[in-house]
Amino acid sequence: MSFLFAWTLLCLLVCCDIGECRRRNVLLIIADDGGFETDVYNNTVVQTPHLRALSERSVIFKNAFTSVSSCSPSRSTILTGLPQHQNGMYGLHQGVHHFNSFDGVQSLPLLLNQANIRTGIIGKKHVGPGPVYPFDFAYTEETNSILQVGRNITKIKLLVRKFFQSQKVERSETEEERPFFLYVAFHDPHRCGHSQPQYGMFCEKFGNGESGMGRIPDWEPKYYSPDQVKVPYFIPDTPAARADIAAQYTTVSRLDQGVGLVLQELRDSGYENDTLVIYSSDNGIPFPNGRTNLYSSGVKEPMLVSSPEHRQRWGQVSQAYVSLLDITPTILDWFSLPHPSYSLSGARPVVLTGQSLLPALISEQSWVTVYASQSLHEVTMFYPMRSIHQGRYRLLHNMHYRMPFPIDQDFYVSPTFQDLLNRTQSGQPTGWFKTLKEYYYRERWELFDIQSDPTERRNLAGDPAYTPVLKGLRDQLLKWQWQTEDPWVCEPDAVLETKLEPQCRPLYNGL
Ligand SMILES: *[C@@H]1O[C@H](CO)[C@@H](O)[C@H](O)[C@H]1NC(C)=O
Ligand SMILES: *[C@@H]1O[C@H](CO)[C@@H](O)[C@H](O)[C@H]1NC(C)=O
Ligand SMILES: *[C@@H]1O[C@H](CO)[C@@H](O)[C@H](O)[C@H]1NC(C)=O
Ligand SMILES: *[C@@H]1O[C@H](CO)[C@@H](O)[C@H](O)[C@H]1NC(C)=O
Repeated sequence: MSFLFAWTLLCLLVCCDIGECRRRNVLLIIADDGGFETDVYNNTVVQTPHLRALSERSVIFKNAFTSVSSCSPSRSTILTGLPQHQNGMYGLHQGVHHFNSFDGVQSLPLLLNQANIRTGIIGKKHVGPGPVYPFDFAYTEETNSILQVGRNITKIKLLVRKFFQSQKVERSETEEERPFFLYVAFHDPHRCGHSQPQYGMFCEKFGNGESGMGRIPDWEPKYYSPDQVKVPYFIPDTPAARADIAAQYTTVSRLDQGVGLVLQELRDSGYENDTLVIYSSDNGIPFPNGRTNLYSSGVKEPMLVSSPEHRQRWGQVSQAYVSLLDITPTILDWFSLPHPSYSLSGARPVVLTGQSLLPALISEQSWVTVYASQSLHEVTMFYPMRSIHQGRYRLLHNMHYRMPFPIDQDFYVSPTFQDLLNRTQSGQPTGWFKTLKEYYYRERWELFDIQSDPTERRNLAGDPAYTPVLKGLRDQLLKWQWQTEDPWVCEPDAVLETKLEPQCRPLYNGL
């Protein structure tokens, strides 16, 4: 244990006796495939009063991004601060996909645990192995029905209550209450048409009280008609897609009311004034050009950060570019814990390339750069991509661009995609902003000016006028890949030789 670390640990325990140190806890709420279906982000159709109330006590980040558009990889980056290619969670954790982080990864729950902070998880865990992601209190899909711990908001409320009650039992027994980190990972508004179609495409019928659906006592479902919904630019405007979105909105009402219940428990337990609350989602929404893509529509996330100690910017919108890679540094900063010095590869020490968001709660920051890195989703979906988004430019590197872009099971059977396939095959208008062929076959480098081309349709990579921009971004992206020990750093036209001095050795493969 380093001296600094030991000192911080001591401080957490005794500083309050000195008088200045306040009690500090964290509540992290992550939605599953959630997007901007909320009036917090100016979607005026979807009613989300509880997210709205949270946003009034938060800084609202308008430019928040995940570093990977896939569930387990994203959750591993949230809980480690390391991109998927560095922590080892290259794809989905469950079933045959079986991806896991490296045994040596020192995750956020592990570090908090070592610092005597009590950790809890309720809902979707979807990361492993167990010893890398330890929680003192756990109600997840590993031991429960995911519908219950991830979508039944009454059940979730009761589990949150149980967590807070056990905090207090511990205090009464030891006369010392440990700070806590509680991670509530909703499974809403994820699709369920591929797994439990009886409950609807987004499980929007689960617990609505209709025959065979069961009842979730705390949920008052909100219904929307297909002609009412707002179709984002990257979704085909068709009756099938509109019906799909209307179902998604109903599930968002369960998420929103669930967030309200969790925050009410926090308040009722007396923790509201001591707890940093972060709300975000793991990846883009499960629609064409969304989840599994590194386009804006696949990586842009809602992000609310609510600190009871930083009220000066409550309700304000920040333009700063922030990443889910910033969540671990933010929480470590909140608890005044350093990131330990250790190595995963045996060579260089691991560095966090994200940063604490706490300064943005005090004043607007001029952060303009975020990175992304995707390798797989399902085990069959190898399509490595890296990207940098800086100011007005987004650069993507599609390393295996000669392969068709892969499609996942859950998205494949969605009404929106089936309709798109049918329309494409039968030559009918698709109502989409690109063709299926363009979607499947991409250029190796894609450079977009999101200011003049927010829908990312004009690839500027081949335009000589943008050569300096392209080169500058490519160099920065490569630098980040080396810094984060990306095994794909030499792909696709060279081989990484790691021994002695790591270097790229050319393949002369014509790419
Ligand atoms: C919502 O719209 C208002 C008015 O155009 C704008 O000022 C604000 O930044 C928007 N909020 C978000 C989160 O995009
Ligand atoms: C949700 O959880 C509550 C409390 O455990 C239970 O009474 C209710 O039946 C559950 N609803 C469904 C649809 O499973
Ligand atoms: C929380 O802090 C605010 C502002 O200092 C105060 O008005 C409120 O009473 C506090 N709530 C609790 C439960 O202590
Ligand atoms: C697509 O076409 C198939 C075969 O004709 C049909 O069974 C299916 O219902 C269609 N799906 C949609 C969403 O239109």
